[in-house]
Amino acid sequence: ERLLKRVEEFHPGTAAELEEFRIKVLGRKGELNELMDEFKTVAPELKRELGQRLNGLKNRAQERINELKSELEAHAAGTPSATLDDMTRPGTAQPLGSRHPISLVRNEICGIFERLGYVIAEGPEIEDDWHVFSALNFPPEHPARDMQDTFFIEKDPDILLRTHTSSIQVRTMETQKPPIRVVCPGRVFRNEAISYRAHCIFHQIEGLYIDEGVSFADMKQSLLYFVQEFFGPETKIRLRPSYFPFTEPSAEMDISCNLCGGKGCNVCKHTGWLEIMGCGMVDPNVLEACGIDSNKYSGFAFGMGVERCSMLKYGVKDLRLYFENDIRFLRQFGTVI
Ligand code: PHE
Repeated sequence: ERLLKRVEEFHPGTAAELEEFRIKVLGRKGELNELMDEFKTVAPELKRELGQRLNGLKNRAQERINELKSELEAHAAGTPSATLDDMTRPGTAQPLGSRHPISLVRNEICGIFERLGYVIAEGPEIEDDWHVFSALNFPPEHPARDMQDTFFIEKDPDILLRTHTSSIQVRTMETQKPPIRVVCPGRVFRNEAISYRAHCIFHQIEGLYIDEGVSFADMKQSLLYFVQEFFGPETKIRLRPSYFPFTEPSAEMDISCNLCGGKGCNVCKHTGWLEIMGCGMVDPNVLEACGIDSNKYSGFAFGMGVERCSMLKYGVKDLRLYFENDIRFLRQFGTVI
């Protein structure tokens, strides 16, 4: 075994070195013949197996030495080889990959909020009911907890795959004191049929800002700044009343459709507006559940889908493209940054 290892690992620099090694191993007085001599003395019942192994070793050593020999010859003739490289030869260019569009967009969005003083927070994909639902003021019978939306792990209804990254915000509020300013990117899971506009796995970025005297106007201005940075300075926003268990008041935010300049096109379904995120003032029940004094502090939260932002920014029409890893799709985002 030890001899075999030495044979496999031997890398001669010159033909003379190789020859020396060959004589040492395979020569008349070489190590292999020494083993053959020892073989004569072993018990007859071991002979069969040991004999086979010795033969195997001999053949492999011969083969390896021949391989090394042709490599050395090829090298001398100037052909590159697998093990012996001419260090002075120019290298072969390796094709560079590019970042996945989801990563690009996630980094860009997080970057915008980082410039506003937010820090990135992350959390587990496998969560418990408390962090995904209960702490966020979901009543026990809320349909989002239902099997139809949520993937549960095994039979335990307490352990599930997070359906939104709001769970990270709960974890942040539980462990930090205000002022809090976090953006929470991550993968989320919902039991939905896969189509051009929905997938059971997608990515979200949610944000949370809590301090004394944070108002709805602060939220509106922060989000306006974000969309103008991300979609362009001409972008307008509109807030429509909505409902989330964890925010009150809640809103759905639309951006003006840059594709048709508000005139109406297929993408914005001729409304001139595109829905981009949910947002609202953090419900006092949520603050209290996470140990934050709701009389002293207030805050806003928002959440958006990374795929959706990327589709709108790059004009991608089918969500499934993001998960297929087809190189022809990925190459179009040809950047390594
Ligand atoms: N968690 C919500 C969702 O997954 C998004 C959201 C976040 C809405 C924060 C309002 C405030 O749809």
